[in-house]
Amino acid sequence: MPSNLNLGVSQNGGSSVNVNAGMELEDSDLSRVLDRPRHLNIERQRSCQQGEVSIGISPRRGDIFDYVFSPGRRSGFNTPRVENGFDTHPVVAEAWEALRRSLVYFRGQPVGTIAALDNSEENLNYDQVFVRDFVPSALAFLMNGEPEIVKNFILKTLRLQSWEKKIDRFQLGEGVMPASFKVLHDPVRNYETLIADFGESAIGRVAPVDSGFWWIILLRAYTKSTGDTSLAERPECQKGIRLILSLCLSEGFDTFPTLLCADGCCMIDRRMGVYGYPIEIQALFFMALRCAMILLKQDMEGKEFVERIVKRLHALSYHMRSYFWLDLKQLNDIYRYKTEEYSHTAVNKFNVIPDSLPDWVFDFMPTRGGYFVGNVSPARMDFRWFCLGNCIAILSSLATPEQSTAIMDLIESRWEELVGEMPLKVCYPAIDNHEWRITTGCDPKNTRWSYHNGGSWPVLLWLLTAACIKTGRPQIARRAIELAETRLLGDNWPEYYDGKSGHYIGKQARKFQTWSIAGYLVAKMMLEDPSHLGMVSIEEDKQMKPLIKRSNSWTF
Ligand code: GLC
Repeated sequence: MPSNLNLGVSQNGGSSVNVNAGMELEDSDLSRVLDRPRHLNIERQRSCQQGEVSIGISPRRGDIFDYVFSPGRRSGFNTPRVENGFDTHPVVAEAWEALRRSLVYFRGQPVGTIAALDNSEENLNYDQVFVRDFVPSALAFLMNGEPEIVKNFILKTLRLQSWEKKIDRFQLGEGVMPASFKVLHDPVRNYETLIADFGESAIGRVAPVDSGFWWIILLRAYTKSTGDTSLAERPECQKGIRLILSLCLSEGFDTFPTLLCADGCCMIDRRMGVYGYPIEIQALFFMALRCAMILLKQDMEGKEFVERIVKRLHALSYHMRSYFWLDLKQLNDIYRYKTEEYSHTAVNKFNVIPDSLPDWVFDFMPTRGGYFVGNVSPARMDFRWFCLGNCIAILSSLATPEQSTAIMDLIESRWEELVGEMPLKVCYPAIDNHEWRITTGCDPKNTRWSYHNGGSWPVLLWLLTAACIKTGRPQIARRAIELAETRLLGDNWPEYYDGKSGHYIGKQARKFQTWSIAGYLVAKMMLEDPSHLGMVSIEEDKQMKPLIKRSNSWTF
């Protein structure tokens, strides 16, 4: 790989990230817009710990379906209504109603939102509160000046983290956060308990690697939105952050700073060929590290972690910006790669064989634009485009400003492929035939252009909108939102759409999928008031800026 592409970070090996961030709400170029005081009605110190998590019932599989808890019964009429006049838009008003119906209560307090309120399909685990699914709900509530539910969620999931976690006879790491949890109601004792799923009940026993990252990202969003630093400063929250970090900063045999993962460890929670170093996890990892830097106190323990974070961020941004980045020039370089190069002088460092370049990528790559590819490891580049990883790369400033612009350029010029009739493709393109058989293990839910295999997921709208605002392209978001608005409500908020252009409601898609509802609301609110962006965006650290002149392929 040509060395002029290795841009974006200082190459002098020195720590280049500001380690004095402490608990401050970080500085940013956007701060003038983003730091408007909001939600002054917050009760800063109120404890939400009256109802402790009871672990009287052991979280074993058999218990899960013993008690059916219907959040619909008690859904959120005791949370404040929207009062900004913004809910006059019929779809927005309906979305708020649906979001409030999805609230889940534990001992009288709202602690999350159910994944889907669809009684027409088998529940499976869609009747649980998923950590990743709750993020857009949380953002919607924060933006609406209702932070209590977010605080409750953060503290309840923190308690779940401290459980002893076992899969068969194997004990999971202390810092692991659950994929999801559920409230069990014992009608005899009239008593509620929580159960959690750390992967031991999940289909395929997939590991929720993203949960801990989302938890840290959400804690920072809460802190940024409310100005309430006392939650993150609590010793138990500081410990929770450190435990999550311990899992992913530990030393091992790795030769790369990226995080090695099993398949299905993120939003794509089934076998889809995303094992290894999937972009979604790498981007979330980077974002969570940056949020942790802001949240960690500068005490003895905190300081030690901040130092480790600084080193990892330095290496990770270099690796990602250099080796995961693909644009026309880079594609052309790979096309002409020599193979079997030995030693540090190698250009083709991972020994990628040009014959492994898929045909579609030559047509897909626009003259202007680029993206972070799906995965990079020895002799393997997964050239698929993944939405979540690329949007988080923009929001976390893992992507340089030039790369962020290029990602948006690509979305614009490949609108038909990536947005089509319903925003937004989870990945592009779909895999089919032999490749589908080998990659998914013949998964009938993940057939071509369905579900995780090139399906269109409305939840991704909030990420696209945030990325659009950050890159100064709100008109792209507006176009996507208007498109979604024509169908989402009428179709009852499907989980995903199928087909090359997203024309069809997904074959096994749940209706009233909460993150489709919340994702739409967050997108709307963010476009209406771009200052909300600060909750989910971190500006580039000036000291991490490239020292070397950037590649021509990034300047248009
Ligand atoms: C599906 C999705 C996963 C989501 C879950 C609950 O399994 O793949 O990302 O968290 O549904 O909505």
